[in-house]
Amino acid sequence: MTLTVIHLKIGRIYTLGDYIVHVITVCMGSSCFSRGNAHNAECIKRYIAETGQEVALSGCLCRNECKNGPNIIVDEKMISQVSPEILPDLLDQVLENR
Ligand code: FES
Repeated sequence: MTLTVIHLKIGRIYTLGDYIVHVITVCMGSSCFSRGNAHNAECIKRYIAETGQEVALSGCLCRNECKNGPNIIVDEKMISQVSPEILPDLLDQVLENR
């Protein structure tokens, strides 16, 4: 088995051969973190484990959209006012409807 290391860049869609790797970036800036992204990140990890989605999870610093937070970025799309209650449906929709 060959292990490939990729360096993720925020807001890009990664392709490994025919394989699309989705990237979910959780804003860990102080505003988003304190408004729920610490918990949202755990919910996303659980979602990935439960669904088997091919997703890379990363974090970022403030994206200057604090007033709309907590924010996550799925591939190139910023999603605001994220909460654990809406995450599963939201991720189903965003990851399947490309
Ligand atoms: S802390 Fe997330 S956008 Fe500012």
